[in-house]
Amino acid sequence: MSARVGAVAPSATLAVDAKAKALHAAGVDVVGFGAGEPDFPTAAYIVEAAVMACHDQANHHYTPTAGLPDLREAVAQKTRRDSGFQVTASQVLVTNGAKQAVYEAFATLLDPGDEVLVPAPYWTTYPEAVALAGGVPVPVPTEESDRFHVTVESLEAARTPATKVLLFVSPNNPTGAVSTPEEVLAVGRWAAEHDLWVVTDEIYEHLVYGDNVFTSLPVVVPELADRCIVINGVAKTYAMTGWRVGWLIGPPDVVAAAGNLQSHATSNVSNVSQRAALAALEGGLTAASEMRAAFDRRRVTIHRMLNECNGVTCLEPEGAFYAFPSVRDLLGTKLAGRPVATSADLADVAIDEAKVAVVPGEAFGAPGYLRMSYALGEDAIIEGVTRLGKLFATAE
Ligand SMILES: Cc1ncc(COP(=O)(O)O)c(C=O)c1O
Repeated sequence: MSARVGAVAPSATLAVDAKAKALHAAGVDVVGFGAGEPDFPTAAYIVEAAVMACHDQANHHYTPTAGLPDLREAVAQKTRRDSGFQVTASQVLVTNGAKQAVYEAFATLLDPGDEVLVPAPYWTTYPEAVALAGGVPVPVPTEESDRFHVTVESLEAARTPATKVLLFVSPNNPTGAVSTPEEVLAVGRWAAEHDLWVVTDEIYEHLVYGDNVFTSLPVVVPELADRCIVINGVAKTYAMTGWRVGWLIGPPDVVAAAGNLQSHATSNVSNVSQRAALAALEGGLTAASEMRAAFDRRRVTIHRMLNECNGVTCLEPEGAFYAFPSVRDLLGTKLAGRPVATSADLADVAIDEAKVAVVPGEAFGAPGYLRMSYALGEDAIIEGVTRLGKLFATAE
């Protein structure tokens, strides 16, 4: 095994989800807060478009690596409509999920030793994708007292002559933080001032709650548009995680280079999935806003119930579909008679003793916390947090 690939950690979120699903398959009544995916089925009109696509022989063969021309155009249009970022189809590369877009963005931008600022807590994939591209991920801590919002001061403290890229993501996975328009403006201006590139992940753009608003960084800081890669996809907005369609948007030369890389790795994304994604983008946001309303109700429930648990404090999630409670007050205790020194220990005890799957903060560079997806039914949320509450009440 190469040192490069040997050093890659498995995805902790997928591992927790796999463990929960295996227990479920074995007949155990487990509540899974691990998965980062909507529990809703993909809307029927999208599935129907895929069925039609299967019958069309044009989809049985290779198509352009960068994506079906109609889909690239629809992504450009949707971006202009939803975020206001003025882009053309030539700036769009359709990828196998946003995950491949993240990977290709860093592979295209980084030379060995280039540093990437990654605000922490971070989605587990970012540091691995940076390291695989030969770059150096530099975690930039954000604080619970700042509601985990990234600040220019902390970014500036982490900047060195080797810093090339800032990774920006709002709404955030795992914290649910949504940067305000003023904060996005400040961060973007700071990046522009220091000639940094920005990779900005907008996959949760439609999942913001209360007074929070989504702000696209290259829209509020247009001088960054030439040094910015936007990541997005259909997975979270349209409940399409399994279809594997995402995209990156960037300057045409960067998009062409990333397309060359993709042409040797995966060629075109499955045509059937691309046709389904096209139907999703052309079908408007009605289904998405219904899901958003359901997530919002669940968010209120999980936030209230977690704060009622012994030893837990939880900020109100502002976006995405994750609660990120602190369990630091439970560390150093025994739960159900088992010693709990870390949040990773606590997650083990939770699955073994309460049959509740949660992802420990260690997976996100934030020990002492748990990530709990609330993309599951209200009854399951109530049952799962009630079980955790009973477990945490045993702390001694
Ligand atoms: C912040 C963020 N970006 C990207 C992705 C990947 O999305 P996709 O399923 O399109 O690869 C995820 C999935 O969990 C995510 O949380």
